[in-house]
Amino acid sequence: MRVLPETTMPLSTSPLTDNAQPHIRASGVAVDFTHAGQTNRVLHNINLSIERGGFVSLIGPSGCGKSTLLKVLAGLVPPTEGEVSVAGVAPAEAARQRRIGLVFQEAALMPWKNSLDNVKVLMEIAYKDKSKEEITERAAAMLRMVGLEKAALKLPSQLSGGMRQRVAIARALAMDPEVLMMDEPFGALDAITREEMSEFLLEVWRSTGKTIVFVTHSIDEAVFLSKNVQVMATGPARIIESMPIGLPYPRVEDTYSLPEFAVASGRLRRLLKEGHGQKATS
Ligand SMILES: Nc1ncnc2c1ncn2[C@@H]1O[C@H](COP(=O)(O)OP(=O)(O)OP(=O)(O)O)[C@@H](O)[C@H]1O
Ligand SMILES: [Mg+2]
Repeated sequence: MRVLPETTMPLSTSPLTDNAQPHIRASGVAVDFTHAGQTNRVLHNINLSIERGGFVSLIGPSGCGKSTLLKVLAGLVPPTEGEVSVAGVAPAEAARQRRIGLVFQEAALMPWKNSLDNVKVLMEIAYKDKSKEEITERAAAMLRMVGLEKAALKLPSQLSGGMRQRVAIARALAMDPEVLMMDEPFGALDAITREEMSEFLLEVWRSTGKTIVFVTHSIDEAVFLSKNVQVMATGPARIIESMPIGLPYPRVEDTYSLPEFAVASGRLRRLLKEGHGQKATS
Protein backbone atom coordinates (compact mmCIF):
# COMPACT_ATOMS: atom_id res chain seq x y z
CA MET A 1 0.00 0.00 0.00
CA ARG A 2 1.46 3.33 -1.02
CA VAL A 3 1.95 6.01 1.57
CA LEU A 4 -0.16 9.08 1.08
CA PRO A 5 1.14 12.62 1.61
CA GLU A 6 0.69 14.00 5.13
CA THR A 7 -1.22 17.07 4.05
CA THR A 8 -4.56 17.67 2.36
CA MET A 9 -3.50 21.21 1.43
CA PRO A 10 -6.50 23.01 2.93
CA LEU A 11 -7.89 25.80 0.77
CA SER A 12 -8.89 27.75 3.85
CA THR A 13 -7.91 27.84 7.48
CA SER A 14 -10.13 25.68 9.68
CA PRO A 15 -12.20 27.57 12.23
CA LEU A 16 -11.11 27.33 15.85
CA THR A 17 -12.29 24.05 17.31
CA ASP A 18 -12.68 22.67 20.79
CA ASN A 19 -11.01 19.26 20.80
CA ALA A 20 -12.50 18.35 24.18
CA GLN A 21 -16.05 18.30 22.75
CA PRO A 22 -17.33 15.39 20.72
CA HIS A 23 -17.09 16.25 17.05
CA ILE A 24 -20.52 14.77 16.34
CA ARG A 25 -23.22 14.41 18.94
CA ALA A 26 -26.77 13.09 18.76
CA SER A 27 -29.03 13.14 21.77
CA GLY A 28 -32.47 11.55 21.98
CA VAL A 29 -32.88 11.63 18.20
CA ALA A 30 -36.06 10.22 16.68
CA VAL A 31 -37.25 10.42 13.08
CA ASP A 32 -40.84 9.91 11.93
CA PHE A 33 -41.78 9.61 8.27
CA THR A 34 -45.38 10.28 7.28
CA HIS A 35 -46.76 8.70 4.13
CA ALA A 36 -50.42 8.67 3.01
CA GLY A 37 -51.51 9.94 6.42
CA GLN A 38 -49.64 7.22 8.28
CA THR A 39 -46.70 8.06 10.51
CA ASN A 40 -43.84 5.59 10.97
CA ARG A 41 -41.11 5.96 13.56
CA VAL A 42 -37.92 5.07 11.72
CA LEU A 43 -35.30 6.08 14.30
CA HIS A 44 -35.82 5.86 18.04
CA ASN A 45 -33.86 7.50 20.88
CA ILE A 46 -30.49 7.64 19.13
CA ASN A 47 -27.60 8.81 21.31
CA LEU A 48 -24.20 9.11 19.74
CA SER A 49 -20.92 10.77 20.56
CA ILE A 50 -18.09 10.72 18.02
CA GLU A 51 -14.66 12.12 18.86
CA ARG A 52 -12.73 14.35 16.48
CA GLY A 53 -10.64 12.13 14.22
CA GLY A 54 -12.75 9.08 15.08
CA PHE A 55 -13.72 6.31 12.71
CA VAL A 56 -17.21 5.09 13.53
CA SER A 57 -19.25 2.56 11.58
CA LEU A 58 -23.01 2.16 11.66
CA ILE A 59 -24.08 -1.43 11.06
CA GLY A 60 -27.50 -3.09 11.21
CA PRO A 61 -30.03 -5.03 9.15
CA SER A 62 -31.28 -3.70 5.83
CA GLY A 63 -33.99 -1.07 6.24
CA CYS A 64 -33.15 -0.42 9.91
CA GLY A 65 -32.38 3.25 9.34
CA LYS A 66 -28.60 3.53 8.87
CA SER A 67 -28.90 5.82 5.85
CA THR A 68 -31.56 7.86 7.59
CA LEU A 69 -29.28 8.32 10.61
CA LEU A 70 -26.39 9.34 8.36
CA LYS A 71 -28.69 11.85 6.62
CA VAL A 72 -29.69 13.27 10.00
CA LEU A 73 -26.01 13.68 10.95
CA ALA A 74 -25.35 15.29 7.54
CA GLY A 75 -28.21 17.77 7.93
CA LEU A 76 -30.22 16.28 5.07
CA VAL A 77 -33.09 14.97 7.24
CA PRO A 78 -34.31 17.02 10.22
CA PRO A 79 -34.89 14.94 13.37
CA THR A 80 -38.47 14.81 14.64
CA GLU A 81 -37.15 14.77 18.21
CA GLY A 82 -33.78 15.33 19.85
CA GLU A 83 -30.68 17.30 19.06
CA VAL A 84 -27.70 16.85 16.78
CA SER A 85 -24.51 18.86 16.51
CA VAL A 86 -21.50 18.66 14.22
CA ALA A 87 -18.51 20.72 15.32
CA GLY A 88 -20.78 22.50 17.78
CA VAL A 89 -23.41 23.64 15.26
CA ALA A 90 -26.56 22.12 13.76
CA PRO A 91 -25.70 19.67 10.94
CA ALA A 92 -27.42 21.76 8.26
CA GLU A 93 -25.23 24.70 9.31
CA ALA A 94 -22.13 22.47 9.34
CA ALA A 95 -23.04 21.33 5.81
CA ARG A 96 -23.50 24.94 4.72
CA GLN A 97 -20.03 25.68 6.12
CA ARG A 98 -18.75 22.75 4.01
CA ARG A 99 -17.55 20.85 7.04
CA ILE A 100 -19.25 17.66 5.84
CA GLY A 101 -18.24 15.59 2.81
CA LEU A 102 -20.53 12.85 1.51
CA VAL A 103 -19.75 9.66 -0.40
CA PHE A 104 -22.48 7.22 -1.45
CA GLN A 105 -22.61 3.67 -2.82
CA GLU A 106 -22.76 4.98 -6.38
CA ALA A 107 -19.97 7.39 -7.21
CA ALA A 108 -22.47 9.64 -9.07
CA LEU A 109 -19.85 11.08 -11.41
CA MET A 110 -20.77 13.17 -14.42
CA PRO A 111 -20.30 10.71 -17.31
CA TRP A 112 -19.15 13.34 -19.80
CA LYS A 113 -16.44 14.76 -17.51
CA ASN A 114 -13.03 13.17 -16.99
CA SER A 115 -11.71 12.33 -13.50
CA LEU A 116 -9.98 15.68 -13.06
CA ASP A 117 -13.08 17.66 -14.06
CA ASN A 118 -15.29 15.51 -11.83
CA VAL A 119 -13.06 16.30 -8.85
CA LYS A 120 -13.27 20.02 -9.73
CA VAL A 121 -17.08 20.12 -9.88
CA LEU A 122 -17.87 21.00 -6.25
CA MET A 123 -14.92 23.37 -5.94
CA GLU A 124 -16.04 25.29 -9.02
CA ILE A 125 -19.42 25.88 -7.38
CA ALA A 126 -18.08 26.67 -3.91
CA TYR A 127 -14.81 28.52 -4.49
CA LYS A 128 -15.77 31.48 -6.64
CA ASP A 129 -12.77 33.40 -5.28
CA LYS A 130 -10.22 30.80 -6.43
CA SER A 131 -8.61 30.92 -9.84
CA LYS A 132 -9.10 28.11 -12.38
CA GLU A 133 -5.42 27.24 -11.97
CA GLU A 134 -5.71 26.89 -8.17
CA ILE A 135 -8.76 24.64 -8.53
CA THR A 136 -7.09 22.48 -11.20
CA GLU A 137 -3.95 22.20 -9.08
CA ARG A 138 -5.89 21.10 -6.03
CA ALA A 139 -7.98 18.61 -8.05
CA ALA A 140 -4.76 17.13 -9.45
CA ALA A 141 -3.32 16.87 -5.92
CA MET A 142 -6.46 15.09 -4.73
CA LEU A 143 -6.22 12.63 -7.64
CA ARG A 144 -2.59 12.00 -6.71
CA MET A 145 -3.70 11.36 -3.15
CA VAL A 146 -6.14 8.66 -4.23
CA GLY A 147 -3.55 7.15 -6.59
CA LEU A 148 -5.31 8.16 -9.81
CA GLU A 149 -2.97 10.73 -11.30
CA LYS A 150 -2.62 8.58 -14.41
CA ALA A 151 -6.40 8.41 -14.84
CA ALA A 152 -6.93 12.19 -14.71
CA LEU A 153 -8.13 12.41 -18.30
CA LYS A 154 -10.22 9.24 -18.35
CA LEU A 155 -14.01 9.28 -18.42
CA PRO A 156 -15.97 7.41 -15.68
CA SER A 157 -16.90 4.73 -18.26
CA GLN A 158 -13.17 3.99 -18.67
CA LEU A 159 -12.66 3.44 -14.92
CA SER A 160 -13.31 0.40 -12.70
CA GLY A 161 -15.87 0.64 -9.88
CA GLY A 162 -13.09 1.05 -7.30
CA MET A 163 -11.46 3.82 -9.34
CA ARG A 164 -14.80 5.63 -9.69
CA GLN A 165 -15.22 5.53 -5.90
CA ARG A 166 -11.69 6.94 -5.52
CA VAL A 167 -12.71 9.86 -7.74
CA ALA A 168 -15.82 10.38 -5.58
CA ILE A 169 -13.64 10.34 -2.45
CA ALA A 170 -11.19 12.79 -4.07
CA ARG A 171 -14.13 15.05 -4.98
CA ALA A 172 -15.33 15.04 -1.36
CA LEU A 173 -11.80 15.55 0.08
CA ALA A 174 -11.15 18.43 -2.31
CA MET A 175 -13.58 20.51 -0.26
CA ASP A 176 -11.47 19.80 2.83
CA PRO A 177 -14.41 18.77 5.03
CA GLU A 178 -13.80 17.98 8.71
CA VAL A 179 -16.12 14.99 8.52
CA LEU A 180 -16.45 12.39 5.81
CA MET A 181 -19.82 10.63 5.89
CA MET A 182 -19.90 7.50 3.75
CA ASP A 183 -22.96 5.37 2.98
CA GLU A 184 -21.88 1.86 1.88
CA PRO A 185 -19.22 3.38 -0.38
CA PHE A 186 -17.73 -0.01 -1.27
CA GLY A 187 -21.02 -1.94 -1.34
CA ALA A 188 -21.00 -2.42 -5.10
CA LEU A 189 -17.39 -3.64 -5.33
CA ASP A 190 -16.05 -7.20 -5.42
CA ALA A 191 -14.57 -8.66 -2.21
CA ILE A 192 -10.90 -8.11 -3.01
CA THR A 193 -11.33 -4.56 -4.38
CA ARG A 194 -13.38 -3.84 -1.29
CA GLU A 195 -10.55 -4.91 1.00
CA GLU A 196 -8.07 -2.83 -0.99
CA MET A 197 -10.39 0.17 -0.72
CA SER A 198 -10.63 -0.36 3.05
CA GLU A 199 -6.83 -0.21 3.39
CA PHE A 200 -6.79 2.81 1.10
CA LEU A 201 -9.45 4.58 3.17
CA LEU A 202 -7.49 3.98 6.39
CA GLU A 203 -4.48 5.61 4.72
CA VAL A 204 -6.62 8.62 3.76
CA TRP A 205 -7.95 8.76 7.31
CA ARG A 206 -4.45 8.53 8.83
CA SER A 207 -2.96 11.16 6.58
CA THR A 208 -5.84 13.66 6.79
CA GLY A 209 -7.13 13.24 10.36
CA LYS A 210 -10.76 13.48 9.19
CA THR A 211 -13.59 12.19 11.32
CA ILE A 212 -15.25 9.37 9.37
CA VAL A 213 -18.78 8.00 9.78
CA PHE A 214 -19.18 4.88 7.69
CA VAL A 215 -22.35 2.90 6.97
CA THR A 216 -21.84 -0.77 6.11
CA HIS A 217 -23.56 -4.16 6.02
CA SER A 218 -20.27 -5.97 6.28
CA ILE A 219 -19.11 -7.25 9.67
CA ASP A 220 -15.50 -7.65 8.48
CA GLU A 221 -15.45 -4.17 6.96
CA ALA A 222 -16.79 -2.61 10.17
CA VAL A 223 -14.21 -4.43 12.34
CA PHE A 224 -11.30 -3.80 9.98
CA LEU A 225 -11.92 -0.07 9.63
CA SER A 226 -13.45 1.22 12.81
CA LYS A 227 -12.34 2.49 16.17
CA ASN A 228 -15.93 2.06 17.22
CA VAL A 229 -18.95 0.28 15.77
CA GLN A 230 -22.50 1.39 16.51
CA VAL A 231 -24.72 -1.67 16.27
CA MET A 232 -28.30 -0.92 15.25
CA ALA A 233 -31.45 -3.01 15.61
CA THR A 234 -34.79 -2.75 13.85
CA GLY A 235 -38.33 -1.87 14.72
CA PRO A 236 -37.80 1.17 14.99
CA ALA A 237 -34.05 1.48 14.61
CA ARG A 238 -32.00 2.25 17.64
CA ILE A 239 -28.42 1.70 18.74
CA ILE A 240 -28.15 -1.44 20.87
CA GLU A 241 -24.40 -1.40 21.43
CA SER A 242 -21.42 0.89 21.04
CA MET A 243 -18.58 -1.54 20.43
CA PRO A 244 -14.96 -0.34 20.60
CA ILE A 245 -12.55 -2.19 18.31
CA GLY A 246 -9.21 -2.48 20.07
CA LEU A 247 -7.16 -3.79 17.13
CA PRO A 248 -4.05 -1.67 16.61
CA TYR A 249 -3.56 0.57 13.56
CA PRO A 250 -2.21 0.41 10.95
CA ARG A 251 -4.57 -2.35 9.95
CA VAL A 252 -3.31 -4.31 7.00
CA GLU A 253 -4.09 -7.54 5.17
CA ASP A 254 -2.69 -9.65 8.04
CA THR A 255 -5.12 -7.97 10.45
CA TYR A 256 -7.90 -10.20 9.07
CA SER A 257 -6.00 -13.27 10.34
CA LEU A 258 -5.45 -12.05 13.91
CA PRO A 259 -7.29 -13.98 16.64
CA GLU A 260 -8.52 -10.60 17.99
CA PHE A 261 -10.13 -9.92 14.61
CA ALA A 262 -12.07 -13.19 14.82
CA VAL A 263 -13.14 -12.41 18.40
CA ALA A 264 -14.38 -8.91 17.47
CA SER A 265 -16.24 -10.07 14.36
CA GLY A 266 -17.76 -13.00 16.29
CA ARG A 267 -19.05 -10.64 18.96
CA LEU A 268 -20.42 -8.22 16.36
CA ARG A 269 -22.16 -11.10 14.56
CA ARG A 270 -23.84 -12.18 17.85
CA LEU A 271 -24.97 -8.63 18.59
CA LEU A 272 -26.46 -8.28 15.11
CA LYS A 273 -28.30 -11.60 15.51
CA GLU A 274 -29.65 -10.52 18.90
CA GLY A 275 -30.77 -7.19 17.44
CA HIS A 276 -32.45 -8.74 14.42
CA GLY A 277 -36.18 -8.24 14.74
CA GLN A 278 -36.00 -6.90 18.32
CA LYS A 279 -38.69 -4.37 19.19
CA ALA A 280 -37.91 -1.14 21.01
CA THR A 281 -39.14 -1.04 24.59
CA SER A 282 -38.40 2.57 25.55
N1 LIG B 1 -37.94 9.70 2.75
C1 LIG B 1 -38.55 8.66 3.30
N2 LIG B 1 -39.89 8.62 3.45
C2 LIG B 1 -40.51 7.57 4.04
N3 LIG B 1 -39.87 6.49 4.52
C3 LIG B 1 -38.54 6.46 4.40
C4 LIG B 1 -37.80 7.53 3.78
N4 LIG B 1 -36.47 7.23 3.81
C5 LIG B 1 -36.39 6.01 4.42
N5 LIG B 1 -37.61 5.55 4.76
C6 LIG B 1 -37.90 4.31 5.48
O1 LIG B 1 -37.10 4.31 6.64
C7 LIG B 1 -36.61 3.00 6.92
C8 LIG B 1 -35.12 3.05 7.04
O2 LIG B 1 -34.56 3.30 5.76
P1 LIG B 1 -33.00 3.48 5.53
O3 LIG B 1 -32.80 3.73 4.10
O4 LIG B 1 -32.49 4.49 6.49
O5 LIG B 1 -32.47 2.03 5.96
P2 LIG B 1 -31.02 1.40 5.81
O6 LIG B 1 -30.67 0.80 7.12
O7 LIG B 1 -30.07 2.38 5.25
O8 LIG B 1 -31.27 0.23 4.76
P3 LIG B 1 -30.25 -0.44 3.70
O9 LIG B 1 -29.29 -1.23 4.53
O10 LIG B 1 -31.13 -1.34 2.88
O11 LIG B 1 -29.61 0.65 2.93
C9 LIG B 1 -37.13 2.10 5.81
O12 LIG B 1 -38.27 1.44 6.28
C10 LIG B 1 -37.47 3.07 4.69
O13 LIG B 1 -38.51 2.57 3.93
MG1 LIG C 1 -29.01 2.50 3.45
